[in-house]
Amino acid sequence: MEFFIDTANIDEIRQAKGYGLIDGVTTNPTLLAREGGDWRKQAEVIVNEVEGPVSLEVVGMTAEEMVAEAQDLVKFGSNVVIKIPMIMEGVKATRQLTDMGIKTNVTLVFSPMQALLAAKAGATYVSPFVGRLDGISHDGMEVISQIVTIYENYGYATKVLVASVRHPKHVLDAALMGADVSTIPFNVLSQFAKHPLTDLGLEAFMKDWATLTDE
Ligand code: E4P
Repeated sequence: MEFFIDTANIDEIRQAKGYGLIDGVTTNPTLLAREGGDWRKQAEVIVNEVEGPVSLEVVGMTAEEMVAEAQDLVKFGSNVVIKIPMIMEGVKATRQLTDMGIKTNVTLVFSPMQALLAAKAGATYVSPFVGRLDGISHDGMEVISQIVTIYENYGYATKVLVASVRHPKHVLDAALMGADVSTIPFNVLSQFAKHPLTDLGLEAFMKDWATLTDE
């Protein structure tokens, strides 16, 4: 499974990169706004920081505007993936960008039918938002399971990118379902290695080691 980091914060990206765990980055307008300042400079720094795919989102509402923005955004680097909202104009833009050889990530996906549309438009990635679905008492992971099945049934190449991750179990379930990628906030990524038995075991090993001599 590929791990992307879901942030526009350069310190978080560098730390995650330092662990050697990060295959790519996803941003969105909210994450960039959180950093403040000039979004172009921020996007450029991120794109240059990582070798893997970096999703940058368009904000136009028509296919024409989205395609024009995408053509501008890809100038940041060859690893840029264009994030497109799941609206009919976005589906149209995704098809056009796919035909132009530009990679896309269809975002704000909340149902298997939306994911089927994204695949039919040739999207490189589809981003179902599991945490936001759970937040309205739906089952985000059930949607992932259905998307994985649909894509397998028809051999779609679109990668399932699990987004809006809130806790490690989202990523565990996604891995068991065979989702291609999880995009993970830094605070969730930091929890993966934690286990109380690991801490207790390590403490005991260190204590026992301290009783030995080294002559
Ligand atoms: C996906 O690429 C989005 O940036 C992100 O996962 C949105 O999740 P949120 O619900 O935490 O805003």
